[in-house]
Amino acid sequence: MTSIDGLRDEHRRIEAMLSALDAVAERLDRDEAAPAFVEELIEFFRLFADARHHAKEEQRLFPLLAGGDSSYGVIDALRHHHDLGRMLVGEMRQALTHLRAGDPAAARTFAASARSYTHLLRVHIDIEEHEVFAEAGRTLTATDERTLREAFEGLDTTPAALQQVARWERLAEQVRATSVSR
Ligand SMILES: [Fe+2]
Ligand SMILES: [Fe+2]
Repeated sequence: MTSIDGLRDEHRRIEAMLSALDAVAERLDRDEAAPAFVEELIEFFRLFADARHHAKEEQRLFPLLAGGDSSYGVIDALRHHHDLGRMLVGEMRQALTHLRAGDPAAARTFAASARSYTHLLRVHIDIEEHEVFAEAGRTLTATDERTLREAFEGLDTTPAALQQVARWERLAEQVRATSVSR
């Protein structure tokens, strides 16, 4: 599996969580209670999708491609998407705090930010896979691939990182079980 294949796999995991987030937004719009795992779901987007997956792209992959030139405009747009996503996750966290504190209006605020976020990330993932990853497959050298692989593998060697991965797998199970029972 190449590093780009690994990023594609992470997209599949992120998409599964985006569907879960859409389901939460629907529930909140119907004035139903937010499920208990919502905080963890938001932490998944903050820590897995952003601090980990987007950081791999911004710090490791994009610089290799931006040096090549033609995709630079697209990469600029993708970095902007990451910033917008960070802002929307911040909005969801804030709305959730207000919701848990008993402010019912925060449910709609959360749902609106959640919908903007899932739409943004789906468009973003589509552009990455069809434009940027496709180009990376054509232009990255064997040395680039080795550099990426070493950088990405280096993220999963500490006990804390492994524990975190196990936590996300548990969350994915929880989300799947909840969507089956809906
Ligand atoms: Fe990205
Ligand atoms: Fe991505």
